[in-house]
Amino acid sequence: MAKLLKVGVLASGRGSNLQAIIDASEKGELSARVVVVVSDKAGARALERARAHGIPAVYLNPREYSTREEYDRAVADVLEAHGVEVVALAGYMRIVTGELLDRFPNRVLNIHPSLLPAFPGLEAQRQALEHGVKFSGCTVHFADGGLDSGPIIAQAVVPVLPDDTTETLADRILAEEHKLYPLVLQWLAEDRVRIFGRKVVILPPTDS
Ligand code: GRF
Repeated sequence: MAKLLKVGVLASGRGSNLQAIIDASEKGELSARVVVVVSDKAGARALERARAHGIPAVYLNPREYSTREEYDRAVADVLEAHGVEVVALAGYMRIVTGELLDRFPNRVLNIHPSLLPAFPGLEAQRQALEHGVKFSGCTVHFADGGLDSGPIIAQAVVPVLPDDTTETLADRILAEEHKLYPLVLQWLAEDRVRIFGRKVVILPPTDS
């Protein structure tokens, strides 16, 4: 079997994107496996999901570190110790610093529930509804130390319906997130992703 890309997931909460990645990997649809999950929240459901699949789950308490940089150094140490090649932020509620990004250059991804650059930050679905856009969606992008600001790898679009609430819109977007994140990881596993400044190009698949 071909070598599997080693993915480390950082998550603060529910972990449904983590679950989608684990499921795709276990079904053999993804040439990658999650080798460690790190969380800044002790009670994160993401940690439980990892443990349920025999994946090391590590809680690092931010209060035990005096700076964001120091915290990220500890996170990066854990990721490196598990041989992580790609870091996937999935509902991770912290902005990552250069301490982490420099250890995994162009290898830290994030998923956001809007069509960036529209509606970065918290409550993206509410922002979309309040703005009155007719379409929204999700974005997988490289993390660059800003707020949902790095080069965009892929996006999926969903309609915004007249009677949508933040919950119904979030659910519709989430269904796309669960397809898009594994897809992008598969492109990385196949070494098909190239970055030119802000522009990301996906190379066509090679016959194997
Ligand atoms: C997702 O909507 C993701 O786009 C955003 O936070 C949410 C995390 O959900 N960054 P989950 O923890 O993966 O279920």
